[in-house]
Amino acid sequence: MSQRAPIGIFDSGVGGLSVARDIRKLLPLEDILYYADSAYCPYGDKDPKIIQQREKKIGQFLVSQGAKIIVVACNTATSTGLEDLRGLLNVPVIGMEPGVKPAVAATRNGKIGVLATCVTIAGDRFATLVKRYAENTEVITQPCPGLVELIECGKLAAPETEQKLRSFLQPVLDQGADTIVLGCTHYPFLRPMIERLAGPGISIIDTGQAVARQVNRVLNEHNLTITDGFLGSEQFYTSGSQAAVREVIQSLWLRNNISVTALPLI
Ligand code: DGL
Repeated sequence: MSQRAPIGIFDSGVGGLSVARDIRKLLPLEDILYYADSAYCPYGDKDPKIIQQREKKIGQFLVSQGAKIIVVACNTATSTGLEDLRGLLNVPVIGMEPGVKPAVAATRNGKIGVLATCVTIAGDRFATLVKRYAENTEVITQPCPGLVELIECGKLAAPETEQKLRSFLQPVLDQGADTIVLGCTHYPFLRPMIERLAGPGISIIDTGQAVARQVNRVLNEHNLTITDGFLGSEQFYTSGSQAAVREVIQSLWLRNNISVTALPLI
């Protein structure tokens, strides 16, 4: 495997771009292939079997395009299929899970709130995470159905997004959480709104940077990190509408000249 091979990243949609931007910051020379499974978004209320099938197809596609490592930039897909994907692909696969561990370290009153999808919160992986790191912490879980769809439309500051977010955040704050975990990769794009609604004194935990550091560590271990050359490029793919997804990616990636290819992977 060549060091020049790209990093493959995927999510149900544009949420994983919050992780991809942390990877881009830490590893500016790396090429990135990003797959947004927009036709199947949201994953968060789907049958885990369907999500697993999608993960396999996307993982195999990214490897067929030469990816040297796969990043499952999705808490939901990690929860449903990380182990299977690792068994299937012959490159390292990095997953991610809600930042319960850093939240337990950050809380001052022993109460943390976790915003995530229904599938992530209901999964065995999340139960294990809470058991391992949060036995003496009160964990208030809050599924946020409908939020991902608004982010997929680029409605990051819309009144309907604020209304929905408030309806999920307020009960968690009312129960006394002083630390909020963003347990879905879409939510960091709402961070300014979350901070404003939560007010001062509430810590927000996002695991994007930790995932980027883990990617860096694993690439180094396998001697796969690019060490010199030009700045890396990004190539985006989607199972959804090329024009619609391109528009949202451009606004989130803060660039105008990006290339998005429609590729359904049926
Ligand atoms: N961004 C994903 C996550 O981290 C999935 C959201 C969804 O498709 O429901 O969980």
